[in-house]
Formats: sequence, C-alpha cells, structure tokens
Amino acid sequence: MSKRVPNLILLGPPGAGKGTQAKMLVDRYRIPQLSTGDMLRAAIASASELGKTVQSYVTSGGLVPDELVLSVLRERIAAPDCSAGYILDGFPRTVGQAESLEKLLIERGSPLAAVLSITVPDQELIDRLTGRRICTKCSSSFHLLFSAPKVADVCDHCGAALYQRKDDSREVITNRLKVYHEQTAPLIKFYQERKLLHTVEGRGKIEMIFGAVCDIMDGLTRS
Ligand code: AP5
Repeated sequence: MSKRVPNLILLGPPGAGKGTQAKMLVDRYRIPQLSTGDMLRAAIASASELGKTVQSYVTSGGLVPDELVLSVLRERIAAPDCSAGYILDGFPRTVGQAESLEKLLIERGSPLAAVLSITVPDQELIDRLTGRRICTKCSSSFHLLFSAPKVADVCDHCGAALYQRKDDSREVITNRLKVYHEQTAPLIKFYQERKLLHTVEGRGKIEMIFGAVCDIMDGLTRS
C-alpha cells in the first residue's frame, strides 16, 4: 500500500506550542514547516510592500486579510520542497482560509492527511507568551521559566541574542486570544466534520507532547 503524503495542519491558540512541535517534526520527518506568522514577520523585516501592508495587523494581534495570507501560502506550497509533505503552522486561521486551502489542495491533488489540534487553557498561554524569547539568528524558542537559556538572553544553539516578539505584550496577547476564540476555534468543528481532527493535550513536557504528535504522524505514514 502506498504511503500517504503527510500534509499536516498544527492548529491551536497562540502559545499552544505549534512552532515548538513543528520544528521537532521538521527534524524528524524532513518535511518543511510552513509558518504564515514567520512569513509575515519576514515580510515586515524586509520592509516589502506586503510587509508594510500587514504590519499593523500583526503587531496588534489581529488577522491579516485572507487574500493576502493566501497569496503568500499559495506561492510557498508550490515550492519543490513541499512535494513530499509539509506542516502548516498558523494556517488556516479562518473558515474562509480553510475553504480556500481545501480547493487549492484538490487542484494540487494532495489532500490533507490530518489536523492536530493542540489544546492549552488561556491562563497557561498567557504565561507562556509573556515569557517567550526567540533567537534573532536561528529562531529557536526559549522561555524565561519553562525552558530558560543556559546564559540569560543568549541562544543555547548558536550563541546569538534573544528577543521578545512585539505581539507578546500582555495587551496584544489578550487580543490574539480573543481573535483565536472568535475566528479560529470554529475550525475544530470544520475539521471534525471532515474526520481529519486529532486532539493533542498541549500541557506537560514538550518531549511528551512530541511523543503523542509522532504517534499520530506514524499512524498516518503507515496507512
Ligand atoms: P503566529 O506567528 O502564527 O503566532 P501564533 O499563532 O499566535 O502562535 P505563536 O507563534 O505565538 O505560538 P505557538 O503556538 O507557535 O507556540 P510556541 O511553540 O512558540 O502569528 C502571528 C501573527 O501573524 C498573527 O497574530 C496574525 O496577525 C498573523 N498571521 C499569521 N498567520 C495568519 C493567518 N493564517 N491569517 C491571518 N493572519 C495571520 O510556544 C510558545 C512558548 O511556550 C515558547 O516560549 C515555548 O518555549 C513555550 N512552550 C511550548 N511548549 C511548551 C510546553 N509544553 N510547556 C511549557 N512551555 C512550552
């Protein structure tokens, strides 16, 4: 029986651990992480036209309009390194984006294999995001309390400086959570109805959560 291409969505609120788990999946399964948040932040950093247009949405914790995110995603998904599968991190975020993705994947003849919904209560999300620090060079993620770097403000992996994301202030986090509950959480039902949804408990040790994620992934690649 032929293996299914593991096109995967990591769904979850801000701070659920989508990026953390995605990076571990990249190392293990050698398929790329497609993070729309990273793509939009790169556009902002390069001061491109797209970056200038999306900056206010990203820094306030609102959602970038569907058609803009879709154009970015459509281009990325067409790259050769996506032919053996990919991990969507932070996309889709609205029912409109999910419907467009469904059409796009039908056109490409490579449907989704699964959607992993990572669940974490809001209070823990706030604690995680306010303490998050990211490497300016290799993008590794740390936490001041839960996974602190060995030397304060320095990346364990490449020695570069760490920074705090602008949208990780308490005020913006509150808005991001509101937006998630109103606009993104309905995707749980959307994918449940398509029998693609797997729920993963997002509290606990990162390695333990990764074990649960890999069990699902291995089940998909076996079937
Ligand atoms: P995006 O970059 O996608 O941010 P997000 O979804 O808010 O998710 P985060 O990156 O904050 O969290 P995460 O789940 O990846 O958690 P992480 O692993 O880092 O989007 C940013 C913005 O871009 C949006 O607000 C929007 O404006 C725009 N945007 C992006 N995509 C869009 C789209 N499709 N449509 C429209 N707009 C879009 O972990 C968080 C912290 O917790 C870290 O410090 C980590 O070390 C720690 N941690 C992880 N796991 C654990 C654990 N098990 N226990 C303890 N700590 C943990």
